[in-house]
Amino acid sequence: MIVLLGSQKGGVGKSTLAVSIAAYLLELGKTVMIVDADDQKSVLTWYNNRDENLPRVPVVSATGNIKNTLLEMAQHYDYVIADSAGRDSSELRSGLMAADVFISPLRPSQMDLDVVPHTCDVFTNAQIFNEKVRGYLVLNMTPTNLFVNEGNLAAEVLRDFPAMSQASNRICDRKVFRDTWATSTTVFEADNEKAKEEIRKLVDEVIL
Ligand SMILES: Nc1ncnc2c1ncn2[C@@H]1O[C@H](COP(=O)(O)OP(=O)(O)O)[C@@H](O)[C@H]1O
Ligand SMILES: [Mg+2]
Repeated sequence: MIVLLGSQKGGVGKSTLAVSIAAYLLELGKTVMIVDADDQKSVLTWYNNRDENLPRVPVVSATGNIKNTLLEMAQHYDYVIADSAGRDSSELRSGLMAADVFISPLRPSQMDLDVVPHTCDVFTNAQIFNEKVRGYLVLNMTPTNLFVNEGNLAAEVLRDFPAMSQASNRICDRKVFRDTWATSTTVFEADNEKAKEEIRKLVDEVIL
């Protein structure tokens, strides 16, 4: 199964979700390979800085037309998680030709909502050639404060874009996601049950 993360914007949580999703799948005993298809190479840097005594979360990089690379890897791993750049790119477009699941994270902000139509267009065009691909908009970095309603307001706006499904599970803004990234670990190696539960529920909903 090939899972592609992509968006028209950087900083929405693609790389964070890529390693978190991979860590959960590894915890379930699945074989996983992360493909860093972003020329900024964030995930590869995360991997290179990772303590060698920690469980291995394998990462390779690929650029340009990644379709065949992803299909080839999917023969050898239960899950291939591809992380693409925060813009329309050949990696995003070619990755969509191979993906089973496309995940596009966004923050509950007007600027992120503004690019959703373009993301949906790219996805809809890809579906013409890859009919099996399922696409999900995933709200990330939503406020944990229940009195701040931004998450629900953004979810409301996303209903206007039926070309992609809206994941009903959201990921909150939690410091543990930033802290674990800084130490080249994942939330599954940290002591924060809420963050882990959010990732588990999202993966259960859109991937498993
Ligand atoms: N759910 C979250 N809670 C808190 N911080 C987050 C969360 N998701 C991502 N971040 C932080 O937001 C920034 C951008 O995330 P990143 O995964 O690098 O985005 P992208 O790969 O889309 O550019 C990073 O500093 C990351 O640690
Ligand atoms: Mg990234």
